[in-house]
Amino acid sequence: MSIDLRPATLEDAAFLADVVITATLAQGRFPPDVDLVEYRAGYENWTRKTILGAIPDCTLSVIEYDGYPVGRLRVVRTQTSITLAGIQLLPEHQNQRIGSTLVEQLKREADLKQMPLFISVDKDNPRAQLLYERLGCHIIGQDELEYHLEYRPATHEQPPGK
Ligand SMILES: CC(C)(COP(=O)(O)OP(=O)(O)OC[C@H]1O[C@@H](n2cnc3c(N)ncnc32)[C@H](O)[C@@H]1OP(=O)(O)O)[C@@H](O)C(=O)NCCC(=O)NCCS
Repeated sequence: MSIDLRPATLEDAAFLADVVITATLAQGRFPPDVDLVEYRAGYENWTRKTILGAIPDCTLSVIEYDGYPVGRLRVVRTQTSITLAGIQLLPEHQNQRIGSTLVEQLKREADLKQMPLFISVDKDNPRAQLLYERLGCHIIGQDELEYHLEYRPATHEQPPGK
């Protein structure tokens, strides 16, 4: 079984919107009066702009499991930090450690680059928050809607005298 990331293309925009809408519906986290047709149109449009490079330093990927698209990952990398800016899996592919594996990969990248990994999570998503905390992230702040978490890279101690 393999988990792979491939850069999203314009043909993926509808799938990526599907993933976000399906995952959010399954969590019951849309407001009751949401207009899903309008939401989808707006989300697909924003996704296309993202794929075309509208957001600096941003990588939008399709998560594939054994070659099949199962999710969406958005990561922002600057000179000083890595930010997991979005991760969603289709409900039937959740709870199979795909999310943990991808966060662990980003932690390894943070360790290698000696940079913090930042993740923000909606306050009405306590299961995702618990997952990030279990994986070693700590709350460093909050705003009205989100907690902001950080994973601090493991320090590489120099042996004495070197
Ligand atoms: C959050 C998410 C990316 C985690 O990936 P995953 O592969 O399902 O998670 P793993 O199998 O590695 O780990 C399981 C843990 O993930 C979390 N999790 C599982 N399903 C979840 C869901 N529907 N929503 C939020 N968190 C979830 C839980 O902490 C779970 O542990 P628990 O069963 O002890 O509660 C994935 O579940 C998902 O796409 N959820 C819906 C969208 C979402 O909430 N995205 C995060 C936005 S910050």
